[in-house]
Amino acid sequence: MVLILDFGSQVTQLIARRVRELNIYCEIKPYNDFDLSGNIEAIILSGSPFSVLGENALKLDLSGIVGKVPVLGICYGAQWISHFYGGKVNNSNYREYGKANLSKFYEQDPLMEDLEIGSQVWMSHGDTIRKLPSEFEVIAGSEDIDIAVFRSKKSVFDQPVYGVQFHPEVTHTLEGKQLLKNFLVDISGVKQNWTPSKFVEDTVRELKQTLGDEQVILALSGGVDSTVAASLLHRAIGENLICIFVDNGLLRKNEFEEVLESYREMGLRIFGIKAVNEFYSALKGLSDPELKRKAIGKTFIDIFEREAGNFPGTKWLGQGTIYPDVIESLSVHGPSATIKSHHNVGGLPEKLNLKIIEPLRSLFKDEVRKVGKEVNVPGNILGRHPFPGPGLAIRILGEITEEKVKTLQEADAIYIDHLRKSGWYDKIWQAGTILLPVESVGVMGDERTYEKAVALRAVNSLDGMTAEWTPIPYELLGKISSDIINKVKGINRVVYDISTKPPATIEWE
Ligand code: XMP
Repeated sequence: MVLILDFGSQVTQLIARRVRELNIYCEIKPYNDFDLSGNIEAIILSGSPFSVLGENALKLDLSGIVGKVPVLGICYGAQWISHFYGGKVNNSNYREYGKANLSKFYEQDPLMEDLEIGSQVWMSHGDTIRKLPSEFEVIAGSEDIDIAVFRSKKSVFDQPVYGVQFHPEVTHTLEGKQLLKNFLVDISGVKQNWTPSKFVEDTVRELKQTLGDEQVILALSGGVDSTVAASLLHRAIGENLICIFVDNGLLRKNEFEEVLESYREMGLRIFGIKAVNEFYSALKGLSDPELKRKAIGKTFIDIFEREAGNFPGTKWLGQGTIYPDVIESLSVHGPSATIKSHHNVGGLPEKLNLKIIEPLRSLFKDEVRKVGKEVNVPGNILGRHPFPGPGLAIRILGEITEEKVKTLQEADAIYIDHLRKSGWYDKIWQAGTILLPVESVGVMGDERTYEKAVALRAVNSLDGMTAEWTPIPYELLGKISSDIINKVKGINRVVYDISTKPPATIEWE
C-alpha cells in the first residue's frame, strides 16, 4: 500500500482520491503518527497550511523514511524535504496561488514521462524553494519559480526522493494524475491491482475471520452506505446478520415499503419496525432544529435497543462509516468543530455493549457505489440522493405534525418524480423539498387563499461540504410548480432555492 502523510492540507484527501483512481490502495496517516510495518511501497508527503520556517512548522524526521521507500513531497512536503536537508526556502510576501505552467524542463526524468512542456499546474504556496540541498537536483520550473520539480541525485539514497511545488492532486493540474502514476507505478513499482472486486474478496474474507459465527446487528437507513455494508456482511456471515429498518414517519412518500421490499429481495434478514407515533410524540412541541435532531436520535436509540433485546447473543454492531469520517477524526487538526450534530446515533455501541464492525471504513463514497454494484445492490438504492438521518423533520421548519409531513411528502414526491422523468435526478447530487413556516396570500377561483409555501432545493456537490445550486431549466421548474400547487392541498406558492454552500447550507435547518 501507499502511505500518505498528512501535514494538514485541505486537499490531502484528494491525494488519496487520485491514488485510488489509479487502482492503488492507500491510506492517510498523520505526519507524526504512523508506522512502516506492513507493506508500504511508497510515501507521499502532503501540503500544509503552515510554513516550514514558522514556529509551528510540522516537523518530520525524514531519516526514518528516506532510503527505505520512494518518497514524493507535495508543496509543504517538498519544501520540508529541501529544508530538512539544508536547502534554502524563502518566505515571500505574497502567496503564489492559481494556475501556472511547467515551462522549463531541465532534465529528462521518469517522473515527467508523458507530461507536456508547458503543462498546466496548480500552485498554492507562500514559501518558495530558492536553493536545493546538495543531495538534490532540479528537474523542472515554471515561469515564476525555478524549482518546481526536483529529485534526489542518483545513488545518494537507496530509494528515490522527489518534490513538486504544485499540487498534482487537484484537477486544475491537468496532468497531475499522470505524474502520480509515473511516481507510483513506474518509479516505485506499485501494482495497480486494487479494484472493487478485490476489495469485496478481501473484505468478505476478513469479515469471516473476525466474526466467525458471532451475530451482528445493523441499522439500515435506505441509504447507500448502510446498504452496501449490509450486503458485504451478508456475504460473509449470512443469517447471522440481523438488519433493522425503522419507519420514523419522516421518510419520503412510500419509501419505507419500497426500500423494505428491496432489502427482502436482496435476501437480507430484515426486520421492518413501524414506530411512526413514537417519533411524532417525541417531536411534539419542538421547533429548534438541534432539539429535533436529538429527540429523533434518542427515540431511534430506544427503539434499536429494544429490538436488539430480541437477539441477546449479539456481539457486534455493524456501521456504514466511510473513509472521510475516519480521516476527519484522525486529522492533524483533530476532529473538526461540529456545526450540526450529524452523527445522530452516537453513543449506541457503548449503551448496548457491542463491538463495532465497519466494513466500509477505507472507502470513499464513489467507491462505496462501485462496491455496491459489485455485490448487486439494487440500482434504486445505489443511485439514491443522500438523505439526512432526521429526514423530513429538518425539512419542515418549525414544529412537526403528521399533517405537515403528509403535505411535504406529497409535494416532494411530485418534485422527485418530475426530476426522474426528465432525466435530471441523476444529474443532481441531492434534491429535496422544504416546507416553509410562512403562509401567503393567493387566489383560487374567486376566493383568496392563505396557504403554505414550499422551497425546492437541488444541489451539485462532491461530498456535501460545498455545493452549487443546480440550474434546473425554467420550463421544468414551471411544470413542477404548477403540479404541486394544483395537486397538493394547502400549498399555493413554490420557490426555488438558488443559494450556494457556503454560506448557505444544503438543508434549511
Ligand atoms: P448541510 O445542511 O450541513 O448538509 O449543508 C450537508 C449534508 O448533510 C446532510 N445532513 C444530515 N445528515 N443527519 C444526517 O444524517 C443530519 O442531522 C443532517 N443534517 C444535514 C444533508 O442532507 C447534506 O447531504
